[in-house]
Amino acid sequence: MRIEPAAALEGHFAVPGDKSVSHRALLLGALADGETRIEGFGRSADTLSTLEAVRALGVRVDDGEALTVHGVGLRGLRSAHVDCGNAGTLARLLAGPLAFQDGEFMLTGDESLSSRPMERIAAPLRRMGADVETTEGRLPLRIRGGALTAIDYELPVASAQVKSALLLAGLGARGRTTVIEPTPTRDHTELMLREAGVRVTTRPGSVTVDPPERLRLDAVAVPGDFSSAAPFVVAATIVPESWITIHDVGLNPRRTGLLDVLDRMGARVGILARRRLGQEPAGDLEVRAAGLTATTIGPGEVPALIDELPLFALLAAHARGTSRVRGAEELRHKESDRIEALVDALRAIGVRAKAHPDGFEVTGVPARPRGGRVDARGDHRIAMLGAIAGVASREGVDVEGFDSVSVSFPGFPDLLDQLTR
Ligand code: S3P
Repeated sequence: MRIEPAAALEGHFAVPGDKSVSHRALLLGALADGETRIEGFGRSADTLSTLEAVRALGVRVDDGEALTVHGVGLRGLRSAHVDCGNAGTLARLLAGPLAFQDGEFMLTGDESLSSRPMERIAAPLRRMGADVETTEGRLPLRIRGGALTAIDYELPVASAQVKSALLLAGLGARGRTTVIEPTPTRDHTELMLREAGVRVTTRPGSVTVDPPERLRLDAVAVPGDFSSAAPFVVAATIVPESWITIHDVGLNPRRTGLLDVLDRMGARVGILARRRLGQEPAGDLEVRAAGLTATTIGPGEVPALIDELPLFALLAAHARGTSRVRGAEELRHKESDRIEALVDALRAIGVRAKAHPDGFEVTGVPARPRGGRVDARGDHRIAMLGAIAGVASREGVDVEGFDSVSVSFPGFPDLLDQLTR
């Protein structure tokens, strides 16, 4: 896919529903008693993997303007082989509640997902008494459901997926399950469990669930995906004369670390009409082009912009000075090794960038990079990085493997096309 340079981005628009919230709404809807109506479900390859997964587990889902999930109750899932596709969130979160079902389950995934670490969920689940086997630490994952006992578990890595898997396992365990997290990660699971009537106790640095009798969700309104808005926020910031407004974006503070970083770099991003969609904060984002200065991101800040760090690298390429990221080793375990992928991508378009074991640094200049050829490495976030690099370049960018954008955002190329002139 060839992306040509743009003179500006202009327009008002919305982005599809949040991927993290969409996965959770389907999974909790499946475990609930009665019907859950999901409004604004974010349709992408990843979330469709979750839709197919819950169907394979015996849950009826009506797919119309909204999704209606006919829950089977906390212990009602039936034995199945589940193909998780590319979706790490599905594979990790689902393992939690499968561990206390009356059945046997096999989780598999595509090549990228099959190379990602799964012991991080299997090990604590075993401590709860679960019968879980990985394949040399990865997928396929085999789970034989049984009785679980609650544990207190300190996360060795800051991961919302691991935290969520354990909280969901805790729904069917004897006792109260507590997860201690070194750095706060996204809390969509906690917020939705509360909405479903579960007693969730949060203290600074930990979260505890009490096993409920049942879940009841009724309706979930999914806000726009901040991570799908982010490429446009970045594009409008670095392409001179841009001015865009993105409506109904999810603004959960554990997701919007990029906004804090943009602010200290000198960007012009305004938040309008702050409100709540269910338990989730949301609002409109107004973004105008601005000159940027370099900044440093440390470990405490990383989880709040983990999926936006490739885009941060592009901001850094346009900022005056050298920007640095530290404490982001987790980036090496995403859909690709994102540290190597983003450094290669920036170098390929003529930007000075260097990889570190747990981060990277980028030396920026307040001018358009040349452009070139970027390899998405089958990773949707790197494909979007390549495309935004293209609109902000002098000569354009060819993105190899651009199709992978459909993992999170199938409408991305058309929307980019509509907004650029
Ligand atoms: C997600 C958590 C993050 C993130 C992923 C979605 C989630 O992963 O990178 O895209 O929905 O819980 P980790 O929690 O493993 O860092």
